[in-house]
Amino acid sequence: MNPTVRYPVYDLNNRLLVAAGTELTPAFMADLIQKNTTKYEQVPMLEYGSIRDDLMRQFTIPPYDVIFSREDAMTTVLGVLEQVRLIRPLLEAMDYFRTNDFHTYQHMLIISALATLILHDLAPRYVSGDRNLHHLGPSHDLGKVSVPIPVLLKKSPLTRAELDLVRHHAVAGYVMLSHYLRDADNLACLIALDHHERLNGSGYPRGIRQDNLVVAVTTVCDIYDALVAQRPYRPVSFDNRTAIEELTWMADRGEINMEAVQVLVAYNRRMTPDISRVQVSREHRGKPPAQNMYGVILEDTGSVTKV
Ligand SMILES: [Fe+2]
Ligand SMILES: [Fe+2]
Repeated sequence: MNPTVRYPVYDLNNRLLVAAGTELTPAFMADLIQKNTTKYEQVPMLEYGSIRDDLMRQFTIPPYDVIFSREDAMTTVLGVLEQVRLIRPLLEAMDYFRTNDFHTYQHMLIISALATLILHDLAPRYVSGDRNLHHLGPSHDLGKVSVPIPVLLKKSPLTRAELDLVRHHAVAGYVMLSHYLRDADNLACLIALDHHERLNGSGYPRGIRQDNLVVAVTTVCDIYDALVAQRPYRPVSFDNRTAIEELTWMADRGEINMEAVQVLVAYNRRMTPDISRVQVSREHRGKPPAQNMYGVILEDTGSVTKV
């Protein structure tokens, strides 16, 4: 199913790439890509700005301090990410987030590290250096540059219109990455487009069944960080145990990839090398935090509903 853009998509210099209402057919995407003749400089991701320092700092923040306290976890991830070279505009976009929405900046960085760690265990061919590794870079939420900052930072429930704008980031990121990488089939583009889809088709923007392992791993990492990290829309985040339980239920319901959840649990336990023997607890002991505005919508009538 071809995605359709609901709002216009611009490049990082505010030039229109796609008008609202356009269906992104393969022919349209091929044309979009072929129009971009710019040659971009490639820069090692960890050497750009303060990315390495910012990532190292995140490794010290709970629950990532436990996950990355295992020396092999840290060495593995840094060893792989040292091979990742990204084109300069995509790294400059990280400066935009660092300045304007630090939570999203940190989120994009830690997803890059966490997905790298899980893929190294589950599907090592995706982290080897003989292919381009754009898909391991911090770009899954790049499309959030098209969401107004006040909406991203909003502390109260979003309106329907604002939710639509936020959800636009998936298709916007796909268009932008396809344009900049000049390849709509690059895994980085697919991740941007499909990381909010679910294995059983219950996600967005297309409502398709997610069937790519790299995308599925990114989704698990994305939800995990959305639960445990600080966010503007709630005073406290989920504790680690409750977050893992939440992920386990989602995997049980066929929404997200269970193997990726198991690897995450294994790394949370400091030393459980055999992933196949990791038991994930289904016991409900944790409690989601109070006043969590995630998924809460302010309707035009003034009432609030959960989506
Ligand atoms: Fe996202
Ligand atoms: Fe995300």
